[in-house]
Amino acid sequence: MRTEITPNFADLGHVISNLIPATRVALMVSAALVLGLSACGQQKDSPSVMLDDQANIEPSVAIKVNEIASAKAIKDINIWPQQAPAINVNPELEHKIATLLATMTLEQKVAQMIQPEIRDITVEDMRKYGFGSYLNGGGAYPNNDKHATPADWIALAEQFYQASIDDSLDGSSIPTMWGTDAVHGHNNVIGATLFPHNIGLGAANNPQLIEQIAAITAKEVMVTGIDWVFAPTVAVVRDDRWGRTYEGYSEDPRIVRDYSFAIVEGLQGAVTGDFLTDQHVLSTVKHFLGDGGTEKGIDQGDNIASEQDLYAIHAQGYVGGLSAGAQSVMASFNSWNGEKIHGNKYLLTDVLKGRFGFDGFVVGDWNGHGQVDGCTNESCAQAVNAGLDIFMVPTAAWKPLYHNTIDQVNRGEIALSRIDDAVSRILRVKFRAGLFDKPSPANRPLSGKTELIGQQSHRDVARQAVRESLVLLKNKQNLLPLSPKLNVLVAGDAADNIGKQSGGWTITWQGTDNQNSDFPGASSIFAGIKNTVENAGGSATLSVNGEVDAANKPDVAIVVFGEEPYAEGNGDIDNLEYQRGDKRDLALLKKLASQGIPVVSVFISGRPMWVNAEFNQSDAFVAAWLPGSEGNGVADVLFTNPEGKVQYDFKGKLSFSWPATPQQTTVNRPLDNSSDVAAKAYSPLLPYGYGLDYQSNLSEHIRLEGLSEDNLSATQTLEDLALFERAVKSPWSMFIATATQREGLSSSVASNSALTIRTMDRVVQEDARLVKFNGTELGTVGLLSNFPRDFRAFSDTKTALSLSIKVDNPLTHPLWLGMACEGECRPQYDIAGLVKPGEWQNLSVSLNCFKQDTMDFSKIVSPFYLATTAKVQLSFSDVVIQAHQQQDTVQCD
Ligand code: BGC
Ligand code: BGC
Repeated sequence: MRTEITPNFADLGHVISNLIPATRVALMVSAALVLGLSACGQQKDSPSVMLDDQANIEPSVAIKVNEIASAKAIKDINIWPQQAPAINVNPELEHKIATLLATMTLEQKVAQMIQPEIRDITVEDMRKYGFGSYLNGGGAYPNNDKHATPADWIALAEQFYQASIDDSLDGSSIPTMWGTDAVHGHNNVIGATLFPHNIGLGAANNPQLIEQIAAITAKEVMVTGIDWVFAPTVAVVRDDRWGRTYEGYSEDPRIVRDYSFAIVEGLQGAVTGDFLTDQHVLSTVKHFLGDGGTEKGIDQGDNIASEQDLYAIHAQGYVGGLSAGAQSVMASFNSWNGEKIHGNKYLLTDVLKGRFGFDGFVVGDWNGHGQVDGCTNESCAQAVNAGLDIFMVPTAAWKPLYHNTIDQVNRGEIALSRIDDAVSRILRVKFRAGLFDKPSPANRPLSGKTELIGQQSHRDVARQAVRESLVLLKNKQNLLPLSPKLNVLVAGDAADNIGKQSGGWTITWQGTDNQNSDFPGASSIFAGIKNTVENAGGSATLSVNGEVDAANKPDVAIVVFGEEPYAEGNGDIDNLEYQRGDKRDLALLKKLASQGIPVVSVFISGRPMWVNAEFNQSDAFVAAWLPGSEGNGVADVLFTNPEGKVQYDFKGKLSFSWPATPQQTTVNRPLDNSSDVAAKAYSPLLPYGYGLDYQSNLSEHIRLEGLSEDNLSATQTLEDLALFERAVKSPWSMFIATATQREGLSSSVASNSALTIRTMDRVVQEDARLVKFNGTELGTVGLLSNFPRDFRAFSDTKTALSLSIKVDNPLTHPLWLGMACEGECRPQYDIAGLVKPGEWQNLSVSLNCFKQDTMDFSKIVSPFYLATTAKVQLSFSDVVIQAHQQQDTVQCD
């Protein structure tokens, strides 16, 4: 019963190309309905189509159920203390805004609210529409050239700016603004100074340093003619499975609040002093609200915190950032109790603009409005009505969105007063930023000062940040600090890999596909060691695999290893075990330790991970996080000077608790006001604030010895995972497809040339779907996520994919039940022979039936689909990954 036909998942290419910029360029996927081939993508000779790469999954209609529930939640605005605006109302400025606004047409106003992306507009579009702002996404550069020079960046900024003030087509001469993700330095630009990612800065816990970093970032950004930065991220990360954990400073709101103030001040200047002078850029505090607290750490998922916790934990970065005068706030992809923030009037308007007194603007996140119930990327009055001021609409959707928004105002679905409020906010920020008076981007004081990009004094600050971010977790018998006169072996695949030590959001969006040569002026960790040691008369040899020259046995081995780069949901994992199922680095540590060589581990990671076995094998262990371009900061701390004196002691302290088991994913220091019960339950391996230094006493140094290496997977109680139960569960959304096209569902009825689908009531409202396949071609219906999901826990043991299904007429062709992982793997199983026409039945199919050569359970993009060429009407509901097989589970082995 193994697969014989492969329904084409061509459009999964959309999803995948959204994930990995490198593959977006020419993702060629088979478009044919391929008969007689086995699954998992052996579709060599089939015709290919080029796909446009920006299709987005619309949320399924089924999300409604949750939202109805949350609408009823009681909200208490008094939880949010009233904050005074950071900047007093300036009547003169308000008059200017009102005067300008009065001259604007509706079209010009809506254009201010549209933020397209450089890959999807031309300079002529800017001339014609006069967008209020535009962005470049992660890994987007002028002319699509990764090696674009600062001059190329300035040229593009200048062209867009000139087109925006050219009123010949749109009658508007309001200058546009360019926003960019400079999240650890100006990270899309070759040669820029790259600071440690936020998790490392949190360990450094040094707000003055952070302000300096922000001020430097502002300068390097301005060299390229850019006005505005989408930082800081002030997520208070509660579950370390989240792929954006490293973008957070801490699991504790205090550091986040203080840093947010310092960064905003560093980027924008102080409200009472050098605010938004020509040495500063606009900042964005993001992502409002609750991004770091989603259930199971699922990116863009649902935060179910109480309103009190939403304030006390998740909103503290806004308390800090807004009091420093942040001029923009980015709405978050996540939901709060089932309701997407982009459509949440209570939080965006009542709380943020009301209680926080925020008078700047709210910018959306990357088509985030399209995820609001009832919205698409092309149309979303709800978001504007909720308080969104600028749509970030990075795809071709900008044009229909612009027209639809205008129509919605004309039809009265959006009040003109709301538009006027949004545009006033945008203009207020533009006036404050001096945009109307400043010279054009090419002529500003810092533009073109290329010597500032990666300038030595900037790198020195980054190097200091690296030193201060290192956290020493183990130091048996005071192995560290090392003498630079030793014979040092440097091993591990992160030792001489600047891309890996820099993590995601590094030149490319995911931080992958980079080489050391893409980082002129930077240093790898190995380079720093080599330099330190050789200057003192020692020697350093690089061997990634730890090959030891028997004739020249090293005195010590420094092994630099850790996570591969990732960004956003691509980094989501389902438990914290490092190198689960593939302990290559542990083997490397063992190989060295077994030869009697003292081992220093330097661990590169975007989060604390369960590395008990690696701790056991290391004499010293340093958590280095994602240090960025100045790898030489590591050697500064590991080695003494030639005279044996400590150069820099360790300063870093854990700003995230370190887990005792792979499953301890939400281990967070109890807040002051938390109950004793919660405090007692706090039992991490290493607590928040932990970190040794060269003064620590010896007994502390041996804490990480003889740790349990049992990953508990056998005893772990795996639970059923509901995919579609009454509603489609986050992060999945329902789609329909033919062999060549796929679309998300945005209403209760949808069809394509192969099938029609509609919601139906089986037990409760809309808990099932009715699908009519017309038999003319291959049709598919299933669930999809924007990001690959880690299902390894389920593949390790006896589990099943189950659903309730009713087929209304006998089947003449196979009916495929399938799953899909990233890439071209589509294992599927024919269930035609298992279903009896005319009755509802529960079907449970062992996950073994989907275990095929190229199946990768760590990267599931579709956990369920049904596909057929048969003419058949069927209904289905209750799709679940079962943690335990049933008696009647269909077996495949
Ligand atoms: C991220 C934001 C980022 C934006 C623009 C989004 O996917 O969530 O943090 O600012 O992309 O690149
Ligand atoms: C884009 C990146 C962008 C990211 C935001 C990706 O599809 O290629 O430029 O930053 O989406 O989520």
